Amino acid sequence: MKLFSVTLVVNGRAVTLRVEARQSLADALRGELGLTGTHLGCEHGVCGACTVLLDGEPVRGCLLLAVQTEGTEVTTIEGISPPAGLNELQESFRRHHALQCGYCTPGMVLSLHALLARDPTADEEAIREAISGNLCRCTGYLPILQAALHVAQSNRLKRADTSSTQSSA
Ligand code: FES
Ligand code: FES
Repeated sequence: MKLFSVTLVVNGRAVTLRVEARQSLADALRGELGLTGTHLGCEHGVCGACTVLLDGEPVRGCLLLAVQTEGTEVTTIEGISPPAGLNELQESFRRHHALQCGYCTPGMVLSLHALLARDPTADEEAIREAISGNLCRCTGYLPILQAALHVAQSNRLKRADTSSTQSSA
């Protein structure tokens, strides 16, 4: 079996993987790097459970071949989580009961993380659009929407605070 070397940055660390030509990125992340927060559901691009960020944009880890990621920067759920505890979006998921079985959660969080990085005060329509490719069979989506809206609202308040501090200085 022929193996290919692929060098990329995963969660801020340069790694070289030895993979088969047809090995998916999700399989390589889980199998070669032990990053099992990347989940596999349908394995054909429908459910979004395998979502990771490729150069900051959400992609399907089950559809992308590991060999296609040479020279890229990949972020998994482990890469956006602080060493202890949860980041603001994850904490908001917890507080809003935005997960039950948790199978979809890493993909959901990464899709929303990418949106909020690009648009910290994203509105409901943008949030709905961002998770339109992520299926959840448990929550009914509303708590997920509320969790993301809460972070966007908190960013809006922080922004308002900063501009009022600057204008009073
Ligand atoms: S496992 Fe990749 S989209 Fe479902
Ligand atoms: S929390 Fe179970 S699939 Fe979303």
